Amino acid sequence: MKYDFDEIISREGTNCYKHEYLMDICGRTDVLPMWVADMEFRTPDFVLETIQKRLAQGILGYTCPSKEYYEAICRWNSEQYGLEITREMINYIPGVVSGIYMAMLAFTEKRDRILIMEPVYHPFRLVPQANDREVVMSSLRRGKDNFEIDFEVFERDIKGCKMMVLCNPHNPGGVCWTADELRRIAEICDREGVIVVCDEIHCDMLFGGRKHVPFASVSEAARRISITLQAPTKTFNLPGIVAAHAIVLDADLRSKMFGYIHGSDMDLGNLLAFDCVKACYSEVGQEWKSQMLEYVQGNIDLLCERLAAECPQVVPIRPQASFLVFLDCRAMGLSQDDLIRFFADKAHIAMNSGSMFGPSGEGYMRLNVACPRSMMVQAIDQIVSASNM
Ligand SMILES: Cc1ncc(COP(=O)(O)O)c(C=O)c1O
Repeated sequence: MKYDFDEIISREGTNCYKHEYLMDICGRTDVLPMWVADMEFRTPDFVLETIQKRLAQGILGYTCPSKEYYEAICRWNSEQYGLEITREMINYIPGVVSGIYMAMLAFTEKRDRILIMEPVYHPFRLVPQANDREVVMSSLRRGKDNFEIDFEVFERDIKGCKMMVLCNPHNPGGVCWTADELRRIAEICDREGVIVVCDEIHCDMLFGGRKHVPFASVSEAARRISITLQAPTKTFNLPGIVAAHAIVLDADLRSKMFGYIHGSDMDLGNLLAFDCVKACYSEVGQEWKSQMLEYVQGNIDLLCERLAAECPQVVPIRPQASFLVFLDCRAMGLSQDDLIRFFADKAHIAMNSGSMFGPSGEGYMRLNVACPRSMMVQAIDQIVSASNM
């Protein structure tokens, strides 16, 4: 491999979330921090270099997105997922979660209903709740290999909703929804007059030769009712830069969404973000991403093989995408509080509790495996020895 994913880089003293909030997440600090969804890998050199180049120029003044920024996003969407878009369909946003917030303010009123498919990334619930929207928690069903959509439940729950926030691929669980499933969601939402905000932040990290299916690409209805949120920040490990963009294909929806974003000055932009996006969505970005995925796949394989042999009561759900592994711990027969205590106090690992993502996450814990192999091995050793205590 050209890139060194084995390198250990200390984040002590950098105010990183993963370390700063250990007490809040698991009540102690003598743990391996394997929770917040960023990577322990060095941010790629081509990103660091682009930042250094910008700093060397010497002025950090107001900066607009360049022609090359838009071209990079258009080219990436076309080459990676076959989605043809043009420059006017793209708007910088300060983070994907901010994009959800802005779409919610642009298209819904207080007390309107917003549907999410739980268990799901918790800001999907927290942002609307904090803004007096009613969150409809539509439960996914646990299938043989992963969580699945129960369309009967979905069709029942979507009634009366104004908006749905969809996670594609899904976090946690790492499910890549199929074109058929997405088409069906689009058809139902269109019929019910629901706008779909589709968070596709994990879409560049698909395993096993899978190809991402953008929601907006599956049908005419999907194109008309969707707001897509993308970012290179998870894939290329630069979430601290805060670089994301909204893509809206439909002209009417776009004028409302982008009008709201401009009107609130939320796209003033971050000059480093513009440069970084361009650097990531490139040929060298593609090469780094492939190697990173191969390495993460190695961590997942090791985790699955060793837990099956040495700790079968903890069952990792193999993600189809991304570096967050949902551990099915239901066979341990512990309450959620005891499960959290088991992993913090006995295994000494900080993970996200499954219940954070909704009631269907009870009995699960989420483990971030974007880390050097030595850390992965240590985490597995600690889980195995805790389970033998
Ligand atoms: C599904 C999903 N959306 C959004 C985010 C955060 O994105 P941002 O930092 O751009 O708000 C995360 C981070 O874990 C995530 O998993």
